[in-house]
Amino acid sequence: MITDIIAAKDAALADIEAAASLEDIVALTTRYAGKKGELAALKKQLGSLDSIEQKKAAGAAVNDAMSAVDVALDARRAVLSAAALAEQVENERLDLTEFMGAPTRGHAHLATQAWERLEDVFVGLGFRVAEGPEVETDWHNFEALNMPIGHPARGEWDTLFVDHVPPGGEPGSTVLRTHTSPVQIRTMLDEEPPIYIVAPGRVFRRDTPDATHMPVFHQIEGLVIDRNITMADLAGTIDAFTKAYFGPGFNSRLRPSYFPFTEPSAEFDIQRPDGSWIELGGSGMVHPNVLRAGGLDPEEWSGFAFGFGIDRMAIMRHGVADIREMFADDIRFLEQF
Ligand code: FA5
Repeated sequence: MITDIIAAKDAALADIEAAASLEDIVALTTRYAGKKGELAALKKQLGSLDSIEQKKAAGAAVNDAMSAVDVALDARRAVLSAAALAEQVENERLDLTEFMGAPTRGHAHLATQAWERLEDVFVGLGFRVAEGPEVETDWHNFEALNMPIGHPARGEWDTLFVDHVPPGGEPGSTVLRTHTSPVQIRTMLDEEPPIYIVAPGRVFRRDTPDATHMPVFHQIEGLVIDRNITMADLAGTIDAFTKAYFGPGFNSRLRPSYFPFTEPSAEFDIQRPDGSWIELGGSGMVHPNVLRAGGLDPEEWSGFAFGFGIDRMAIMRHGVADIREMFADDIRFLEQF
């Protein structure tokens, strides 16, 4: 009897090992492990054995055979399930590159390219890159820049206020920065002069989009603080920058203007090789009140600052007629640059 049991077990294990599909496993489970299976049939014959010892020994052998068969079935089922799943995944895989043709290599957006090139040019002129937060306090964005609450010049920046009230702050004292100029204040408060920084970044205004305006756009701020800095240093720096960024055929000029945070102030324009002038941004000598807000003594330190629109520079450099094109995300436009 024991010999029969062992033979049945060995046959079962060999069949299970050879099973090629999950259907085979189902059939083998019925054949060997089911209630009407071969091992169950042998178990039923135990009662016909003569002695208790024989029954015990044969019973133990049947139980051993049944659990060996169960373990083998589980193991083989696991292997075949994994293979079936892998095959299904392979069959159902959607290869998008078949529809797209050869993969194409992307590149940085026009605004990012302009931003990085501007950084390169200014780093080449000896400036360092600084940063500030996009969500600012009213104090950094306006007050420290010589625009106290109620100052009429605040109206020139169509400000987006944020509901959030910072710990210890007043309601309405948090804004999406309207320009990169607050980085001037943060840098003066953080560092000892001499300071030579540029601060590129995203800024926000309640401006309606048109050919030259976006509500979210990019500026680059420049700040120099040192001893005996004059307007001539500003003019020389702007001119060196214009030639490095646009090319040797371009000239620059400063035109009298007004900003609360610079005195005197100037718009700066560039002249294209065809002779026409276009405005690029604002600039001027840092106002004594701004130096004081930055913790510096205006008797000891002087400096200049400038700020211009990165997106406007990019469209001028590439002859794009409408700034909105840059953010419409039309791939036919973007892939030209
Ligand atoms: C300023 O923002 C000043 N902070 C610049 C400055 C810095 C002056 C340091 C003096 C010293 P203004 O609002 O003019 O100035 O903006 C500067 C430039 O940002 C503009 O010349 C223009 O190039 C760009 N700009 C302004 N508004 C928009 C807009 N809605 N969309 C795109 N570019 C804009």
